[in-house]
Amino acid sequence: MEQYVIKGGNPLVGEVEIGGAKNAALAILAASVMTDDTVTLENLPDVRDIGVLIHAMEEIGVRIDRINRHSVKINASNIHTLSVEYEYINKIRASYYLLGSLLGKYRRAEVAFPGGCDIGSRPIDLHIKGFRALGAQVEIEHGQILAHADKLVGGHIYLDKVSVGATINIMMAASMAEGKTILENAAKEPHVVDVANFLNSMGANIRGAGTDVIRIEGVRRLHGTEYSIIPDQIEAGTFMFAAAATKGDVMVKSVIPKHLEATTAKLAEIGCEVEEFDDAVRVVASKPLHSTHVTTLAYPGFPTDMQPQMTTLLAICQGTSIVTESIFENRFRYVDELSRMGADIKVESNTAIINGVPKFTGARVDAPDLRAGAALTIAGLAAEGITVVDDIYYIERGYEDFDRKLASLGAQIEIAYSEKDIQKFTLKVS
Ligand code: EPZ
Repeated sequence: MEQYVIKGGNPLVGEVEIGGAKNAALAILAASVMTDDTVTLENLPDVRDIGVLIHAMEEIGVRIDRINRHSVKINASNIHTLSVEYEYINKIRASYYLLGSLLGKYRRAEVAFPGGCDIGSRPIDLHIKGFRALGAQVEIEHGQILAHADKLVGGHIYLDKVSVGATINIMMAASMAEGKTILENAAKEPHVVDVANFLNSMGANIRGAGTDVIRIEGVRRLHGTEYSIIPDQIEAGTFMFAAAATKGDVMVKSVIPKHLEATTAKLAEIGCEVEEFDDAVRVVASKPLHSTHVTTLAYPGFPTDMQPQMTTLLAICQGTSIVTESIFENRFRYVDELSRMGADIKVESNTAIINGVPKFTGARVDAPDLRAGAALTIAGLAAEGITVVDDIYYIERGYEDFDRKLASLGAQIEIAYSEKDIQKFTLKVS
């Protein structure tokens, strides 16, 4: 089992390059099967979840050629089955995007019930409601979801809850339905807009993405395209918080600062200096940082995917902070791990009450999910002494070269494969 071993205490200083957005890339990869022409994708992050989806697509007959680490050519003209059976596909949430894309193009799809990070109950009722409103029949049997239709016809769909996944999935299927679909209470996240832009570049007719009403005029055929995926706002935000927690000075490059507004605002509020450039953001934490209150919300609110990193930072800020998680009910599981490092946090229902402590102390902790794993790594970078973060498999699902990027900013961090590696590292840094 791989672990990060970290000697904390070094302020992060320098520049870091942000990759393509994992959650946009997953949907766009799945959507690329909707044409028989070749699609070229650039700025694809090289992370585990992308690898799993690529493998699953190859197993149904999609041809995927790597041009380089971050670019692929995709051709789906020889798909031989609409049943996605790759054994690891149910481990990733985004497997459900193959339902929307295959249903849209072939009127049939069968995919395992999606898994993903264990951050609370993650129903897919809204996806199913949307597919049914387009005329599909959807059945769940033996852990598989089967969606099929003789024809898909546009409809008026209201999402009872704002859902990124359901918005994207319905948008994909509706792109190739007959007539017009109106999707109300849609998610407005940057990756929803990115997927709409991608589909439009293939000839789809989608308007309003980025607002809460999306209008889709179905088309009969989509064509090939070349497309570059937007930067990952959560990876960017994670480095911004790491800079703040270590009292550092980091220029986070290749980002869209507008997508980072909620993160930027909170960092400024607690006392960081945040400077915005055209495609970069610099975070400097030279003064003592203080408490604040945060509630996670759908975009443009504060992202749930930044909540563990924010809570971790507030745990070493002066004063009492309150963080309310309003999207996923089980997203405070890392708090027990942070407590081992000296944090003083009490969780009541979906609220964490954080009494800032002067510092973390290094300990052995478990990453319970992707973003929580990144947050515990940040805690380790800020802590006194050695921290070992177990189960970094989760972190590798969504961060490319996380350890190397941190090391390039001056962090003392390595991947350890055994107790011996941990001892060697400890000797080296002490
Ligand atoms: C996406 O998950 C992301 N995953 C998550 O990122 C992210 O946390 C989340 O959006 C919120 O921004 C991917 O893009 C692969 P939702 P998704 O549907 O689509 C409820 C990460 O760390 N809901 O927007 O699953 C749901 O329970 C991950 O990268 C229903 O009730 O999230 C939640 O409370 C973790 N019924 C809320 O909506 C449904 O059918 C928002 O979920 C669907 C969702």
